[in-house]
Amino acid sequence: MNTLTISEEQIILRQPDDWHLHLRDGSILDSVIIPTAKVFNRAVVMPNLSPPIVSIQSALEYKRRILKAVPKGLSFMPLMTTYLTDTTSPELLAKGFAEEIFFAAKLYPQNATTNSSLGVSDLASINSVFETMEKIGMPLLIHGEVTDSEVDIFDREAVFIERHLEPLLNRFPSLKVVLEHITTTDAVQFVEANQSKLAATITPHHLHINRNEMFIGGLRSDFYCLPIVKRERHRVALRRAATSGSPCFFLGTDSAPHLRASKETSCGCAGIFNAPNALESYAQVFEEEGALDRLEGFSSEFGAVFYGLSLNTKKITLIKSPHKIPSKFKLQSKDLDSEYIVPFHSGEILNWKISE
Ligand code: DOR
Ligand code: ZN
Repeated sequence: MNTLTISEEQIILRQPDDWHLHLRDGSILDSVIIPTAKVFNRAVVMPNLSPPIVSIQSALEYKRRILKAVPKGLSFMPLMTTYLTDTTSPELLAKGFAEEIFFAAKLYPQNATTNSSLGVSDLASINSVFETMEKIGMPLLIHGEVTDSEVDIFDREAVFIERHLEPLLNRFPSLKVVLEHITTTDAVQFVEANQSKLAATITPHHLHINRNEMFIGGLRSDFYCLPIVKRERHRVALRRAATSGSPCFFLGTDSAPHLRASKETSCGCAGIFNAPNALESYAQVFEEEGALDRLEGFSSEFGAVFYGLSLNTKKITLIKSPHKIPSKFKLQSKDLDSEYIVPFHSGEILNWKISE
């Protein structure tokens, strides 16, 4: 299965897929899709627009807008998700899945993150939805954090696993679940122990930064995302999991663009835009961990295998070429002329560069 070629100067690997991505809509979509479509063949597109994607029609229309925004000459396949609410009908999920419009359903606990106010308020109230998904083999993608304000923000993932995820897997043992953007040792251990039907995505940012980074030299809103970055020991556990070669952990960038003005304000948005350098960012981690030979499984194989999709056949080349990441990602649209997004690794040096 391994098609990887590694030398001091270059890595040739199977084209990767991004199993967790925010593309937004409108003028922002037109710009942010470009770096993703240049590198990744497929991406699971998150439905937390405003209003969210909750119908077959809105998923289809959103997919059309995405495909229209893909630059000519690139091939890119968006895999659409639908957003679960308290009133999602099992019939709608079954129809959308059978018609291959919904690839998966996304569960946001209500008010857990950006545009999640219409998310699910009580998991037990949508048992019939889980029952149907289990029956038809439709994947459930979970933002795994409790929203109970009495639970410390740094503990919300671990508490979600204990209070909600474990009971859910016990109630629906054949349900196919991805715990998205894991951030803790607790999540790593839980996924490893339940890996027949459970997998997890890991973001570049959770592999690179710990919670200190949010406060170095002042309050750094660029590093604010949800689930929030945790202590160093958790980052170390995530790096170990990602580079372990274990197929239950795979690439999902959670690239989540927000305009500078929405990050740098009294109530800044959560989200890190890593799409412009995502693969390079992962490669840096795998190199630092002495595990470049395991990059391809994580980036380009384990996700497809988990979802039962074919592996990509195209190759992509990374060249050893230390380069500075631009401080701003400019938006193409005229109406957003003065706006920009600060990319992850802004102003830093990354060692690997994608050969165009
Ligand atoms: O940091 C995040 N940003 N986490 C999420 O769960 C949502 C995302 C967004 O949509 O901005
Ligand atoms: Zn996300």
